[in-house]
Amino acid sequence: MRISVIGCGYVGLVTGGCLAEVGHEVVCTDNDPGRMAMLEGGRVPIYEPHLDAVLAAARRAGRLTFTRHAGEAVRAGDAIFICVGTPPRQTGEADLSAIDNVARLIATEARSPKLVIEKSTVPAQTGLQLKRALAVYSRKNGLAFRVASNPEFLREGTAVEDFLHPDRIVVGVEEQSSEEQCREIYRPILEGLFHCPVHTPACPPTPTPPMLVTTIASSELIKHASNSFLALKISYANVLADLCERLGANVEEVTRAMGLDPRIGPQFLRAGLGFGGFCLPKDIQAFIWLAESVGVDFGLLKETERVNRQRIELLLEKVRRALWVVKDKQVGVLGLAFKPNTDDVRFAPAIEVINRLVAEGAQVRACDPEAMEKAGALLPPIAYHRDPYEVAKNADALLITTEWEEFRRLDWERIRDLMARPLLLDARNLLDPAQMKALGFEYHSFGRPGC
Ligand SMILES: NC(=O)c1ccc[n+]([C@@H]2O[C@H](COP(=O)([O-])OP(=O)(O)OC[C@H]3O[C@@H](n4cnc5c(N)ncnc54)[C@H](O)[C@@H]3O)[C@@H](O)[C@H]2O)c1
Repeated sequence: MRISVIGCGYVGLVTGGCLAEVGHEVVCTDNDPGRMAMLEGGRVPIYEPHLDAVLAAARRAGRLTFTRHAGEAVRAGDAIFICVGTPPRQTGEADLSAIDNVARLIATEARSPKLVIEKSTVPAQTGLQLKRALAVYSRKNGLAFRVASNPEFLREGTAVEDFLHPDRIVVGVEEQSSEEQCREIYRPILEGLFHCPVHTPACPPTPTPPMLVTTIASSELIKHASNSFLALKISYANVLADLCERLGANVEEVTRAMGLDPRIGPQFLRAGLGFGGFCLPKDIQAFIWLAESVGVDFGLLKETERVNRQRIELLLEKVRRALWVVKDKQVGVLGLAFKPNTDDVRFAPAIEVINRLVAEGAQVRACDPEAMEKAGALLPPIAYHRDPYEVAKNADALLITTEWEEFRRLDWERIRDLMARPLLLDARNLLDPAQMKALGFEYHSFGRPGC
């Protein structure tokens, strides 16, 4: 099928690349000229494992093109995926101006009817508004558009794998023809009919993902409901960690046992610095706002958000307690991305931690395997080093703020010897407390004995 993708960020590039990989003809566009220049030149503006290879292979096969002519991109596809950003406004409400802009673009530039698919995360009822906007702005060309919702559940860091091996595919539709078209788009993925770039030589056996067909409003709600529930689980584990600290229990033992109950499950029960990124923080806010706008008080989620914000302060309190005076101290920070295996620093807890440390007068230097460039645009001037050992040199304290595997495998004896004082604050519970103490570190983490 011929497919257009509007918005070439994390979701747009993975969607476009993977749909081309499985055999569709895909044309992508974005309204950021810098981003388009990179993509047209064969470069990938984000770090996401396997994405470079997927995009390069699809281009070589002639199934993936990038154009900055938005109208051309709109006309190219029978189905159009909207993958633009939906950032939070000051109130927490989702800013849907990019969706509105794209609706007007499609309505005025299309020359034939299209299936317009919301892939961006949007509040329930957006599909209705989108359909209305498409109808109003296309009145001169008399085209009829169908709208579908197809929320994306990929996780940055494993996005290509998640897209090609989803747990479920959700489509919200109004017409049978839209369901059939979505089924056709996802048929190679549903039937496993593609060459997988992630697993060589063959994918491990996995059950066929279900494709759930719902109303558009349910589909929109499913995405916000899922992300908010995940956020709630994380905040729950974090409050448990605080309780464990007071009672001398170990949060890892507690959450491990909890997670073995299939009704609870082990994921998203990791205590630490809390959630960040471009999904959970904004989606939970948008969901709270949506609920309030229709008279439902989702207090549970407000508390989830409050607990998450408090994590930063709890870490800073640990830093202050250990350092006594923060001003003029050399503080090394390992990790800037909101989670490992991505360069995404949007709403990353590490960014807020560094801002606060700098405001308190600390001399901060930081290291991240992929995110230093993007962090540089958000942070006040601090020192960056590719080499984590440089960050540790003469440091009064070292903080772990992203759980990159590289950090676990560092030569910690060497780090201890490089530091002015072997003080380690592991805000992601990445390392083993007993081992670190045996090495001679003053070691702090969340919810584990002696932390
Ligand atoms: N990042 C994730 O892990 C993830 C996962 C699932 C869903 N989502 C949702 O998908 C959407 C996109 O997320 P993302 O992380 O890819 O965002 P992003 O900021 O990385 O990408 C959005 C892209 O859209 C482009 N854009 C904005 N307005 C445009 C317009 N009018 N015309 C053309 N291009 C336009 C921007 O230039 C940008 O490149 C959001 O709604 C997000 O909540 C994100």
